[in-house]
Amino acid sequence: MCGIVGYIGKDDIKNRLLDGLAELEYRGYDSAGIAILQESDLSIYKATGKLENLREKAKEYSSGDTFGIGIGHTRWATHGKPTEANAHPHFAEFSYVVHNGIIENYSEIKKELTKKGCSFLSQTDTEVIVHLFEENLKEHKNTLVAFEKTISSLKGAYAILLITKNSPETIYFAKNGSPLIYGKGENGIYFASSDAPLIGSASEVVYLEDGEYGYATNSEEKFFLDFKELNPEFKKLHVNKTFAQKDGFRYFMEKEIYEQHQILLETMMGRVLEHDIVFEEFDAGILVGVESIKICACGTSYHSALAGSYLLERIAKIRTHVEIASEFRYKEPILKESELFVVISQSGETADTLEALKIAKASGLKTLAICNVDNSSIVRLADFTILTRAGIEKGVASTKAFATQIMVLWMLSLFFAKFKGHLQKSDIKKELHKMIESAASTKVDEKLHERLKKLSKRFLHGHGFFFIGRDIFFPLALEGALKLKEISYLHAEGYPAGEMKHGPIALADSELFTIALMPKNLLFEKIKSNVEEIAARDATIAAISPICIDSADDMIYIQNSDSYMVEFFEMMVVLQLFALEVSIRLGNDVDMPRNLAKSVTVE
Ligand code: M6R
Repeated sequence: MCGIVGYIGKDDIKNRLLDGLAELEYRGYDSAGIAILQESDLSIYKATGKLENLREKAKEYSSGDTFGIGIGHTRWATHGKPTEANAHPHFAEFSYVVHNGIIENYSEIKKELTKKGCSFLSQTDTEVIVHLFEENLKEHKNTLVAFEKTISSLKGAYAILLITKNSPETIYFAKNGSPLIYGKGENGIYFASSDAPLIGSASEVVYLEDGEYGYATNSEEKFFLDFKELNPEFKKLHVNKTFAQKDGFRYFMEKEIYEQHQILLETMMGRVLEHDIVFEEFDAGILVGVESIKICACGTSYHSALAGSYLLERIAKIRTHVEIASEFRYKEPILKESELFVVISQSGETADTLEALKIAKASGLKTLAICNVDNSSIVRLADFTILTRAGIEKGVASTKAFATQIMVLWMLSLFFAKFKGHLQKSDIKKELHKMIESAASTKVDEKLHERLKKLSKRFLHGHGFFFIGRDIFFPLALEGALKLKEISYLHAEGYPAGEMKHGPIALADSELFTIALMPKNLLFEKIKSNVEEIAARDATIAAISPICIDSADDMIYIQNSDSYMVEFFEMMVVLQLFALEVSIRLGNDVDMPRNLAKSVTVE
């Protein structure tokens, strides 16, 4: 995830851009850069790391009150390391671009452009955009036509701002898949990846839709879709600063739950193709000599590891064993070089997980990190990394990071299955559809959220919660219980539904709350019997299922799909919202629950 901003006007352009980027730093802070064009004079500054480094670098520059245009970018590295050369804006001879998203066909474009004599300074996918634009301009002589030709050659997701000395008062913009907002205010025209930088500056905004593009100057603005001019709908921007940071949500956790459907697409982007599954980070050779997989992680990441083990065994048919990192590190584990050692971590800094990784490396195992933070200690140490691309997660209770970890593990299972010959191209196509459906199923349905808000008031007391599920829904039950514990401080346990009869069912009475995960597509009859056994002991049961469960006191319906993974992702959202609403009713600080920290770098 990256953030982009743009400004047209004469109100201290440099600071407008830098302040806008500060609001977008949550989207990434691997590097930042700005480019300002005033009366054909171009100034460009880039710095690696946090925005303050860029501020320092650009401190001598003053935009004064001369009219000008500018673009800026804050980066969450996807293609190419977080170096200054890879920082945006990227440029060709006389044009500059910032981009959020991934250009999937950049290698092909790059090859073509290289043949024509273009040379590239960065390893990014973005740089092709600006070279392609200048090539198109040579041919078509008209900047808008060249821009149109350029964006119509791009595959993938993008929000783009482009400036060129050829038309020094204009910003060209385009949106497809990544967010872009156009704003107008008393002091100029603004662009940004989210509302936050626009608050207090723009009074009305257009939330651009996919496929829309256009250009703006101080006196003219044009919007297009499919080469036809549009009259976009401007909306008033009312929200205040504090509200904006959370994009109107009450808590970061809530915002992060709501953005999962978009984030999951970013996780898949460029990796799941129609007939293939690829990881640019490594090839299938990673599996040569590997007989089994061991995964180590903590907390939520441990739950996704457990869920992943079901997928890896079922889909890729590779024996997979999961361990809690803090247990693993002191048990004097017997490790085999034929084991692929995988660690999962949102932060990449969790001390126990890092230590487990060191042990595996010292024992000569191949190591793979599934991580959300590039350049973190875990990423730097592992032989291979898959970045989950969840973007910065601010809520201490992990939500979108979990969702992306599951998606990565699912993709990895397919990738390994393909290598081992367990998956045909036609199967990949089917899985791709399921993945897209799964991502879509995490889009929060407002009615469901309202229902959970109401329901939550019945679950504020009692002597505890059991979250129960079977198969891959057991780790999801563990995760549902952890979410509730972390932010509501109520006692909750995740349990395999079939195991209740071996002891915990003794706790069952009307004050025991059971949240039952009952997918239609996986062991439905089995879990139904387990729930009936608990209901017969008078426990209070809330069932999450597409099917009406007679023995349940409350039903939370999910959509009727044909895939248990779609059901998994939809239930995940239900559990996250449920914990959120219980916590809010109890008056707790959802984003900063007591006793916890986002990144646990101590033992
Ligand atoms: O950054 P990591 O994924 O390594 O963190 C592991 C756990 O500390 C983390 O998942 C923790 O359990 C979260 N607070 C869960 O919401």
